[in-house]
Parts: sequence; structure tokens; C-alpha cells
Amino acid sequence: MKISIALVAAMAFLSVAAQAQDAAAGKTKYATCAACHGAQGQGGAGPKLAGQKPEVIVQKLTTYKNKGQIGAQSQLMWGMAAGLSADDIKNIAAYTATFK
Ligand code: HEC
Repeated sequence: MKISIALVAAMAFLSVAAQAQDAAAGKTKYATCAACHGAQGQGGAGPKLAGQKPEVIVQKLTTYKNKGQIGAQSQLMWGMAAGLSADDIKNIAAYTATFK
């Protein structure tokens, strides 16, 4: 019983640590995105990203990577997403989720 509680606690800690790491990596990648989406994801030339769920960000970026249409200006995002790996996308989503 004690062991399983310790295990759950350790897993919870590891997942928090992993998320923090993802967000830090995502922040580096987000530098090129800030010009259009805002340093805090508040939006600008591109839509507001703050407040969007990370899974939604992952889904949209994956759509762009696969040259899918979301809005009228999706073509612009195809070039942005083309160079992102699945991990990059996950990390960026972890970072944009920190925007309030
Ligand atoms: C030159 C300006 C520009 C840059 C740089 C840019 N974006 Fe975008 N982004 C846009 C525009 C414009 C749209 C709307 C595209 C559409 O109509 O589908 C968009 C859409 C998006 C969306 C979907 C938003 C929504 O609510 O539908 C996400 C997510 C996104 N961008 C993330 C990023 C990330 C991550 C980067 C950096 C790797 C980035 N963008 C770089 C302009 C930009």
C-alpha cells in the first residue's frame, strides 16, 4: 500500500517535471511565432492562442503541418508548421498553455 502511494507520488512528480521541460523547449520554438501571435499569445497578425487548450493547439498545428485548411490564411501557417516535429508541436502547446 505504502509503495503504491509512493509510486503514484513519484509518477505525479515526474509528469509535472516533464511538462515544465516541454514548456521550456516550447518557449524557444515559440520565439518565431511571437511576432504574429504575441509574446503572451494575445494575438496580432495571427489569432489569439492564449486560453486555447494544448490538445487543440496540437491538433491545429498538425493540421497545418499536413497542409490542412483551418481559416482563410492557413497557407501562411503551412510554412511555419512544416519544420516542426511532433515533439516540437507538443512542446509549443505546453508553452502556449501557460499563457493567461
Ligand atoms: C507571419 C505571421 C505568423 C507567424 C510567424 C506564425 N503564425 Fe500562426 N497563424 C497566423 C495566421 C494569419 C493564422 C490564421 C491561419 C488560418 O487562417 O488558418 C495562424 C494560425 C495559427 C494557429 C491556429 C489558431 C486558431 O485559433 O485557429 C496556431 C495554433 C498557430 N498559428 C501557431 C503558430 C506557431 C506555433 C507559430 C510559430 C512556429 C506561428 N503560428 C507562427 C500567423 C502567423
